[in-house]
Amino acid sequence: MWDELKQRTGAKIVELLAEPDRANRFVIEADGMRFDYAKTSMTDAARDALLALAETQGVAKKRAEMFGGAAINETEGRSVLHIALRAPEDVVVHVDGVDVLPELRAVRARMASFAEDVRAGRFEGAGGPITDVVNIGIGGSHLGPEMGTLALAPYHDGPRCHFVSNVDGADIHDCLQGLDPKTTLVIIASKTFTTIETMTNAETARQWMAQAVEEPGAQFVAVSTAEDKTAAFGIDPSRVFGFEDWVGGRYSMWGPIGLPLMLAIGPERFEDFLAGGAAMDAHFCHADLAVNMPVMLALVGLWHHQVCGYPTRAVLPYDQRLSRLAAYFQQLEMESNGKGVTMEGAPVEGGSGPVVWGEPGTNGQHAFYQLIHQGTQVVPCELMVAARGHEPELAHHHRLLVANCLAQSEALMLGRDMDTARALMSDAGFEGAELERQAAHRVFPGNRPSTTLVYDQLTPYRLGQIIALYEHRVFVEGVILGINSYDQWGVELGKVLAKEMEPILTGEAGVDDKDGSTRNLVAFLKSAGLN
Ligand code: F6P
Repeated sequence: MWDELKQRTGAKIVELLAEPDRANRFVIEADGMRFDYAKTSMTDAARDALLALAETQGVAKKRAEMFGGAAINETEGRSVLHIALRAPEDVVVHVDGVDVLPELRAVRARMASFAEDVRAGRFEGAGGPITDVVNIGIGGSHLGPEMGTLALAPYHDGPRCHFVSNVDGADIHDCLQGLDPKTTLVIIASKTFTTIETMTNAETARQWMAQAVEEPGAQFVAVSTAEDKTAAFGIDPSRVFGFEDWVGGRYSMWGPIGLPLMLAIGPERFEDFLAGGAAMDAHFCHADLAVNMPVMLALVGLWHHQVCGYPTRAVLPYDQRLSRLAAYFQQLEMESNGKGVTMEGAPVEGGSGPVVWGEPGTNGQHAFYQLIHQGTQVVPCELMVAARGHEPELAHHHRLLVANCLAQSEALMLGRDMDTARALMSDAGFEGAELERQAAHRVFPGNRPSTTLVYDQLTPYRLGQIIALYEHRVFVEGVILGINSYDQWGVELGKVLAKEMEPILTGEAGVDDKDGSTRNLVAFLKSAGLN
């Protein structure tokens, strides 16, 4: 599938950009956002071939199946309907012949009414109005609400939100320190309500609450698909917000898992966030493939990883409040498309999805951009930046931020050749062999690809668009690779072995069945005072 495309690599980005109108033709503008992929080595012919691949691999058909409620998560026999969580009023989505939207909207209305009660002080803790919310969850039950809550800090007018995810007791210890149990609300967010990290933290939080509050369960909320288990934990059904198993964990921040965000910014702004997601859904469903932002973002991703062979891609938001976006995209992309076999169980041609990583600019510039500019492996960079920050009094900061974002994509593309480096060193007074040696260190290979997403301001609506954009990108890449983006069997083995390992650490089980390395590690930890 990729061989013919591999013949098309090797173009010089600067030369491509000199072609008439590339700067307008390798760009998609939709609903206030501009996605520029002109600074990649994708030629017109390569783009045509990738678009043809999207057609032959059935992207449009699979998209219709997903939006129509078909069970496209075939290994778990489930529909994939996170899009229903943000669907506009006039949409109908059926699962097994039943319109699922009335129930979704009823749960959202209950969430909104609960959030308003908390925000207005009508729902109180034992010590008065709720000042702090602690969300306990992990993976998809943590990363989305945490990322979104940080991203939309300028819109916060509710209680302070905190997030605990790691089973490491340090996480919950440090979070609860300084909080007053009498005015704290705890959300236990777990799709399955069985995840060991979350249930261990939930129990610790309950004990912490019980020391100061007579009825600790009254200050607990559950978000889960498993209402029998939330009841067994002792949470009143009026404070349980359920969702269905056709919402994948890493796609779930649009529904009840988004409760911390709704508490922080209020139900109306949460609706704006949903509206942004819905707008991207409409664009994804209706725009032609060639001008379809998620489709082209996916094709650029496949071009870089499967065709050019670049092993990773960097997510580089020039926005400090998007500091958790790379972590969020890591789960979204790597848990979805990090699969070695196709839906049929055959090896994936061209390999699975790439490693995704990143940090906000400009911090990354002073940390790892060295490798991106001069290292020997190419890292496609996905930059994003808003025209305006939220601090008009600090506009000069924002101009510097934007300048850095634009300058980086330019520097990556242009690089610096040996002659220019020599001239610089000559101006600095070097000569002969020393000039040559010093100049070599100042050469940048250039021709390094980047894409840039620009928009006016990071509002709830824009955040919704961006998240949905990447969700659909993952979908398109998954369809073209022929894999199931919606299961995650790869996380199971470690969980099973961790269950076996705990009794070894307590001494209830012997270590003899384990390999030599593990046996020695256990012995060292025990001798070092394992607790
Ligand atoms: O272990 C992986 C995973 O199942 C993720 O897919 C999920 O987001 C996370 O664990 C948390 O699961 P839950 O919401 O059921 O606690």
